[in-house]
Amino acid sequence: MTKRIAIIGAGPSGLAVLRAFESARRKGAEIPEIVCYERQSDYGGLWNYTWRTGLDQYGEPVHGSMYRYLWSNGPKECLEFSDYSFEEHFGRPIPSYPPRAVLHDYIKGRIDKSGIAHYIRLNHAVKWLTYSHHSKKFTLRVNDLTTNETSESEFDQVFVACGHFSTPQVPEFPGLRQFLGRVLHAHDFRAADEFAGKDVLCVGSSYSAEDIGIQCHKYGAKSVTFSWRTRPMGFKWPDSLSEVPLLERVEGKTAYFKDGTKKDVDAIILCTGYLNHFPFIEDSMRLNSRNRLYPPNMYKGIFWHTNPNLMYIGMQDQYYTFNMFDAQAWYARDVVLGRIALPNYGVMVDDIAKWTVAEEAIQDAFEAIDFQTEYVRDLITPTDYPRLDVDGVAATFKEWEHHKMDNILTYRDRSYKSLLTGTQAPIHHTPWMKALDDSLETFLNQPSSQAAE
Ligand SMILES: Cc1cc2nc3c(=O)[nH]c(=O)nc-3n(C[C@H](O)[C@H](O)[C@H](O)COP(=O)(O)OP(=O)(O)OC[C@H]3O[C@@H](n4cnc5c(N)ncnc54)[C@H](O)[C@@H]3O)c2cc1C
Ligand SMILES: NC(=O)c1ccc[n+]([C@@H]2O[C@H](COP(=O)([O-])OP(=O)(O)OC[C@H]3O[C@@H](n4cnc5c(N)ncnc54)[C@H](OP(=O)(O)O)[C@@H]3O)[C@@H](O)[C@H]2O)c1
Repeated sequence: MTKRIAIIGAGPSGLAVLRAFESARRKGAEIPEIVCYERQSDYGGLWNYTWRTGLDQYGEPVHGSMYRYLWSNGPKECLEFSDYSFEEHFGRPIPSYPPRAVLHDYIKGRIDKSGIAHYIRLNHAVKWLTYSHHSKKFTLRVNDLTTNETSESEFDQVFVACGHFSTPQVPEFPGLRQFLGRVLHAHDFRAADEFAGKDVLCVGSSYSAEDIGIQCHKYGAKSVTFSWRTRPMGFKWPDSLSEVPLLERVEGKTAYFKDGTKKDVDAIILCTGYLNHFPFIEDSMRLNSRNRLYPPNMYKGIFWHTNPNLMYIGMQDQYYTFNMFDAQAWYARDVVLGRIALPNYGVMVDDIAKWTVAEEAIQDAFEAIDFQTEYVRDLITPTDYPRLDVDGVAATFKEWEHHKMDNILTYRDRSYKSLLTGTQAPIHHTPWMKALDDSLETFLNQPSSQAAE
C-alpha cells in the first residue's frame, strides 16, 4: 500500500518538502501520497502578508509577523533556491535586497511552475497530532476553517513545518499596565507610518528590534531608543537612534533603564522574540526550545529522536533560510524514500550531542554562520540537491555582516553576485532609505540603463 505523508504548513519549509518529492517524482521515483495542510488562505507562510493582528476571521491566531515595508534583511543571493534562480523567476537580474512581496512572488513561483500547489489544502488548521505505537500510524485531527468541519486521517510520516516566529514571547515590565502610550509586540507591528513624529522604545537587540526601529526612523519617528538585555547591537546609529540597557520600569510615559537613565516615550514595541508553541502536537513529540541554531532532540536538526517518522523542518535560528529548508527537505525525503538509512537511537543521540557542543562554543556571528554552513553542507552532501556553493554563501553572509557594521542605514543598497548564475545584481533604482514604496511593481521597475550594471 502507498505510504501516506502529511505536511503541516505551506510556508517556505513545507513548500520545500513538496518540491523535494516532486523533484524525485520527475526523475522516476515512486513517491508517497502527500497532503499539505495550511491554515492560511494562501501559501508562502510569513511572506503572505496580512493586515490582521490577534485572531483571524475564523478565530485562529494570526500567523503573520511580517509588516508593510519589510525588505529582506539579508542578501537574496544567500537564500536563492539552488534549483530555481531569481533570474529564472523574474526573467532578468534584480537587486540584492527585495521587499517582502517580491520574495513571496519568488517562493510561490517555484511551486506554481512545478504544478504542485494541488497538494495544499488551504484554510485547514491542524488541531491535534498523535501517534499510535500499536498501529505505527500518526493521526491528524484537522479543522476545515471554511466549513468548520473536523476530520481525522492517518499517516505513516509527518513533517511539521509550521514555523516558529508566530507566537510572541511577551515579558512584563513594572508599570506597563499604567503606561500612557501604546504597547505592542513586534508580532503585531504592521506599519511604521503610525509612529511618525513619535518617540519609540524598542525592547530587544536582535533582528526585529533592529529592523522595526530603523523602519520607524525611515518613516519619520522622532526618536528610537533600543533597550538591550544581554548586549547592545553596536551599530553606528544616526543621531535620533540610541541604545540603552534593559528597561527597568515605566511611570506615566517615562521609561527608566538599568543604567539609571530615563526617556519619555509614546510607544513601546516589545521586540522580544517568539515562543516555540506547538499546542497541536502530543507532549512526547513536541519540540520545546528557545530560538537556537541547533534545537534539542532532533537528529540532523530534523528527525524527532524517539520517533524519527516525525520530522521538523525549519525550526532553527536562521542565517540560512530557503535553501536550508531545501537541504532539510531533500535529506528527509531521501530517508522517507529509503535512500538514506537512519542510524540507531544511540548514534542519533550522540550526533545531536556533538552538534550541540559545537553550537555552545560559538562566540560570535561569524562562527554562527560557519556553524550553519557546516550544517547545510552535511545535509546536502548525500542528496541530489543541485549544487549549492555553501562556502560562497558563507562568504556573502560575512560580507553582509561587515556592511551592516559599516552603515546600518545603507547596507541594503549593496549588490552581490549570484552564487548560482554568477550574475552581479543591479543596484536598486532608489536608495533603501528613500524607497518608501515597497510594492513589487515599483521594485521591479528598474530603468533598463541600470538593469545590467
Ligand atoms: C518579521 C520576520 C521577518 C523575516 N524576514 C526574513 C528575511 O528578510 N529573510 C529571510 O530569509 N527570512 C526572514 N524571516 C525568517 C522566516 O522564518 C523564513 O523566511 C521563513 O518564512 C520560514 O518558513 P517556515 O515555512 O519555516 O515558517 P512560516 O513562514 O512561518 O510558515 C509556516 C506555515 O505553517 C502554517 N501553519 C502553522 N500552524 C499550522 C497549523 N496548526 N495547521 C496548518 N498550518 C499551520 C502557517 O499558516 C504558515 O503558513 C523573517 C521572519 C520574521 C518573523
Ligand atoms: N527582514 C527583516 O528585516 C526582519 C525583521 C524582523 C525579524 N526578522 C527575522 O525574524 C526572526 C526573529 O527575530 P527576533 O528579533 O524577533 O527574535 P530573536 O532573534 O529570537 O531575538 C529576540 C530578542 O529579544 C530579546 N529578549 C527576549 N526576552 C527578553 C526579555 N524578557 N527582556 C528583554 N529582552 C528580551 C533577546 O535578548 P537576549 O539577546 O538577551 O536574549 C533578543 O534580543 C529572525 O529570523 C529574523 O531574521 C527579519
